[in-house]
Amino acid sequence: MSNTKHSYLLSALMAAGLAFAAVSAQAAVDVAGAEAALKVNKCAKCHSVDKEKTGPSYKKTAEKYKGQADAEAKLYTHLTTGPKIKMDGEDDVHVKAKGDEASIKNMAQYILSR
Ligand code: HEC
Repeated sequence: MSNTKHSYLLSALMAAGLAFAAVSAQAAVDVAGAEAALKVNKCAKCHSVDKEKTGPSYKKTAEKYKGQADAEAKLYTHLTTGPKIKMDGEDDVHVKAKGDEASIKNMAQYILSR
């Protein structure tokens, strides 16, 4: 009896541990990789982590998308489709990020976690 209870508790703990591992794997940002990709793409020409330049700071973007489940998908679209934007008050299109899907998603994660 007490054995059954014990193993039930143990498997519940293991399940919780696995769930935690899954969540942290999803949230893990490769910071060095993202910073390298942002550099290659020259994003810093128009963006900084915490200062407004031609484009919004990454902190401001993180704030804008806070709590939105599809934030990463939205930024991925922003970075891959060359959407219409206003730049210095003029109609323009945003640059398309170079890199594979994983690298661009990692940049999005990086920005959202500033
Ligand atoms: C030539 C200037 C310029 C460059 C280079 C540039 N951006 Fe932007 N970016 C902008 C401007 C301007 C906006 C604001 C667009 C708007 O609000 O209409 C913007 C918006 C954004 C946003 C916010 C999108 C949103 O949905 O709120 C993100 C994130 C972003 N850029 C990331 C990047 C990344 C990553 C790179 C490099 C691959 C990059 N940008 C390169 C000018 C630039």
